Amino acid sequence: MPKLIRLMPLNIYNRLNIPNKNSPIPQKHGEFIYSFLKMNSIKKTLETGFGYGCSAAYIISATKSTHIVIDPFEKSQWKNIGLHNIKKLNLSKFLRFENDFSYNVLPKLLKEGIKIDFAFIDGMHLFDYIMLDFFYIDLLLNNNGYVLFHDNQLLSTNLIVNWIKKNKLNYTLIKEDSCFVLFKKIKADVRKWDHFIAFYNCKKEEKTLKEKLRELKARIKV
Ligand SMILES: C[S@@+](CC[C@H](N)C(=O)[O-])C[C@H]1O[C@@H](n2cnc3c(N)ncnc32)[C@H](O)[C@@H]1O
Repeated sequence: MPKLIRLMPLNIYNRLNIPNKNSPIPQKHGEFIYSFLKMNSIKKTLETGFGYGCSAAYIISATKSTHIVIDPFEKSQWKNIGLHNIKKLNLSKFLRFENDFSYNVLPKLLKEGIKIDFAFIDGMHLFDYIMLDFFYIDLLLNNNGYVLFHDNQLLSTNLIVNWIKKNKLNYTLIKEDSCFVLFKKIKADVRKWDHFIAFYNCKKEEKTLKEKLRELKARIKV
């Protein structure tokens, strides 16, 4: 890993126009993605949520291959800054930009017969949207491919992560922290038609929130 980080093109992050630092993934996450893709020689990639193009810049810099990005608000909300950033890095020829909602684009890609080896899910962070992104990405993903979730601190993301851990037994967890969760698809889905393992318990969640509140209060006292 350190060797690969040394091979990272200098200053990807500093060369990007990022008017609001809270929107894109932070530099260290970009560097993690870059190193991971390089280390695993991954080429066929996709992401939901393009924004300022920060994650895309790291992904394409690592693969120098076609990267499919999906974002319906690139023009209206992000003023095409993501597209300009990728152009600035001279990487536009590797970008397939889909100006639409992921729930429209992902089924279209499936019909096109697209297969991928890595997907980054960082689009709409509502539970149902993330689940739908994962549902289609799972169908697009080759065996031995990877899916990376951003924002595991959100309960919406974390619930889906827990559902995968309990129910998608053809996936193995590679890395998890409060921000990133990385799974590898190890084989085809072999669930029976009625398979379901409970993954969420409201009572347990209430308790967790109470515990969190207690911790917070204790910290404020200190
Ligand atoms: C957190 S930002 C992505 C940041 C980006 N990964 C980066 O590093 O610059 C989330 C993005 O999801 C996009 N988005 C919102 N709803 C979406 C949807 N239904 N499908 C695809 N993208 C969506 C937003 O426009 C926004 O750009």
